[in-house]
Amino acid sequence: MREPWVSKYAFGIDEIDSQHQALFEFIAKLEAAIPTSDSWVVVQQTLNDLSYWARIHFAVEESLMRLMKFPELENHIETHADFMNTIARLKKQSLRKDIARDTSRFLNDWLRHHIDIEDRKYAEHMIARCRLTDEH
Ligand SMILES: [Fe+2]
Ligand SMILES: [Fe+2]
Repeated sequence: MREPWVSKYAFGIDEIDSQHQALFEFIAKLEAAIPTSDSWVVVQQTLNDLSYWARIHFAVEESLMRLMKFPELENHIETHADFMNTIARLKKQSLRKDIARDTSRFLNDWLRHHIDIEDRKYAEHMIARCRLTDEH
């Protein structure tokens, strides 16, 4: 099992950092269930919880990016939409077979990459803009 949350994923924007941490916790719950006979059910719960909370998290991020006039907004929105489509596809698959292992691998890889590369871009943009505003 991989470390669910490490400080390199924190931007210093408390609300966003704690939302990211919460998303990692869903994945940790799923990983813990993999060796058990419950994994089939837990994967469905995880996908349901994640589609609910990720939608809220993405809406918060997209409003922030709009507010901060982040130049790569459209691109970022597309990556969120791709993720939601994959979750919808996995939800359907999870009704036919146990996909706990593949799901946890996908979620882990996607979330780590997205936070570390994509979210970091808007976080840095936001922090730089706030600094500029503070100086005036
Ligand atoms: Fe995010
Ligand atoms: Fe994002």
